[in-house]
Parts: sequence; C-alpha cells; structure tokens
Amino acid sequence: MNQQEYNFSFEVFDSIDELTKADAALVSEARKVTANAYAPYSHFNVGAVAQLKNGQTVTGTNQENAAYPVGICAERVLLSSAATLFPNIAIDTMAISYDNKNGKSNHPISPCGICRQTLMEYEERVQQPIRLILSGLEGKIFIIKKASQLLPLSFGGDDLK
Ligand code: THU
Repeated sequence: MNQQEYNFSFEVFDSIDELTKADAALVSEARKVTANAYAPYSHFNVGAVAQLKNGQTVTGTNQENAAYPVGICAERVLLSSAATLFPNIAIDTMAISYDNKNGKSNHPISPCGICRQTLMEYEERVQQPIRLILSGLEGKIFIIKKASQLLPLSFGGDDLK
C-alpha cells in the first residue's frame, strides 16, 4: 500500500477591489448578468461570463423548469453557447456569481458536480485550462487556476479507450 495525496490551493481575495482590472470587469459582468437568470423556483439567480482566448465574451445564466431536473446551471448554459458560437476556442477565464433572492449573496459559490464534469470535458477538448473566479454580489472572491482541480480522480474520455 502507498498513500497518495492530492493538493489543491486557490487564491482568496477580500473583495473585488483587490482584483486586476480585467478580472474585476468579469466579476462585475457576472454579477450583472444574474438578472437574466430564469429561477422562479429556487429564486437563486446565477450568472457566468467567460473571457475567450479570441477576445470574445460569452455569458450564461441558470434556466429552471417546472419539472425541476430539466433546469440547467449557468455554467453549462455558458459552455454550450461558447462551444456553439465559437467552436474550438479555449476559455481563458470564467467568472461566476449569484443573487440569492431569498437570502444573502456574500460568499463565493462553487460549480456543482455536473458542471465540474462539464468544465473538465471542455478543458480536455480544447486542451487548455479554464481559470475560475467565484464570488457573490459582495464579499470574498476565490480564484482557481484550473477548473478540473475541483474534480480529483475524475472519469474522462481517456478511460473509455
Ligand atoms: N446553480 C447554478 O446555475 N450554478 C451553480 O454553480 C450552482 C447552482 C443553479 C441551479 C438552480 O437553478 C439554482 O442554482 C439553485 O440550485
């Protein structure tokens, strides 16, 4: 037997004021785009914006459904749009924010398991890491270098070979 270790570190900022101009602009846009979410069931509006390597930006918001499992997270709405509008273009950074209409929006949220899997597939298909900036409408901000760091021991395309 030998013990394996998985190390993961990420950056923590006290507020948007500590970010670079470019990162702050993405966070502001992610916060703004939460207004386009369709979340009449959870009242938890999520917004995401991606800066692509070709200079374009793409946004996504969560889109819910009366049949609850049909709803889609903001991150996957964004990834589907980006892949369709700009096929094979890598995503440099994705900022994710939320507006919890039933409570506070003052700490970062992290992508759900299905979104982590989808983010990892995107990194694989374009062979580039996706940097994540996680935040609420206010408060601390986390920056993660590579989305797939959130999914250790993952299952991927190579396992099917
Ligand atoms: N949601 C997202 O869109 N992204 C996340 O990272 C977490 C959760 C959505 C799904 C659902 O519409 C609502 O937030 C509450 O879970």
